[in-house]
Amino acid sequence: NGTSRDRLRIAIQKSGRLAEPARALLSACGLSWRESRDKLFCYGESLPVDLLLVRDDDIPGLIADGVCDFGVVGRNELNEQAGARQSIGLPAAYQELRALGFGGCRLMLAVPEAWQWSGPEQLQGTRIATSYPAILAQWLQEQGVQASVVELSGSVEIAPKLGTADLICDLVSSGATLAANQLKPVQTLLESEAVLAGPVRRFEDQRAQLAAMLLRRMDGVLKLKD
Ligand code: PRP
Ligand code: ZN
Ligand code: MG
Repeated sequence: NGTSRDRLRIAIQKSGRLAEPARALLSACGLSWRESRDKLFCYGESLPVDLLLVRDDDIPGLIADGVCDFGVVGRNELNEQAGARQSIGLPAAYQELRALGFGGCRLMLAVPEAWQWSGPEQLQGTRIATSYPAILAQWLQEQGVQASVVELSGSVEIAPKLGTADLICDLVSSGATLAANQLKPVQTLLESEAVLAGPVRRFEDQRAQLAAMLLRRMDGVLKLKD
């Protein structure tokens, strides 16, 4: 799908924490779209830059496959899928281009409140539930610890109570979800925030100029914010 195009396509989250700030950032860069509330494809008006509204988890793959040129996605999701691709011998095919300063959260280990946390060695032989198996496996390897990774796509926080895992590795933002499930955060694996992701390869058509302009404008907007 590396076909030549004269319009840029940016994937953003359809709904969820990153959806509104992603749109606001792109608007501040001077982009506008023909408004169509429920449409998943928004045709760019001010510039030939279209939006695709998707599940955040699909964004890295859309860029890797060349379906989209850029995406606004959490570093957690981007790194996880890069790790998963790497573990089966695929190249990353996309990269983090800019950190965007919103959607901040941490990928953390969290244990039942009654645990006394003494450090990573304590994880030897445990079962850890997560939606981030690649990042977790890599980290465990770096720590020299053997633990089993229980992959769940959601509601990870319930696993210790169900007895399917001893602890979890999940995103923590306010900490409310952990507290509600009698878990406490003990170790950070990744500091995450929304990022602009783009392809590793250079554009060889009209998109090159468009992409350069978009990045220039984004740098201006990001500079104003800090
Ligand atoms: C994340 C994470 C936790 C929650 C933590 O889920 O998986 O469930 O946020 O946030 P808190 O610390 O503010 O309570 P998210 O809402 O992104 O949805 P998902 O798990 O369905 O992707
Ligand atoms: Zn998601
Ligand atoms: Mg969740």
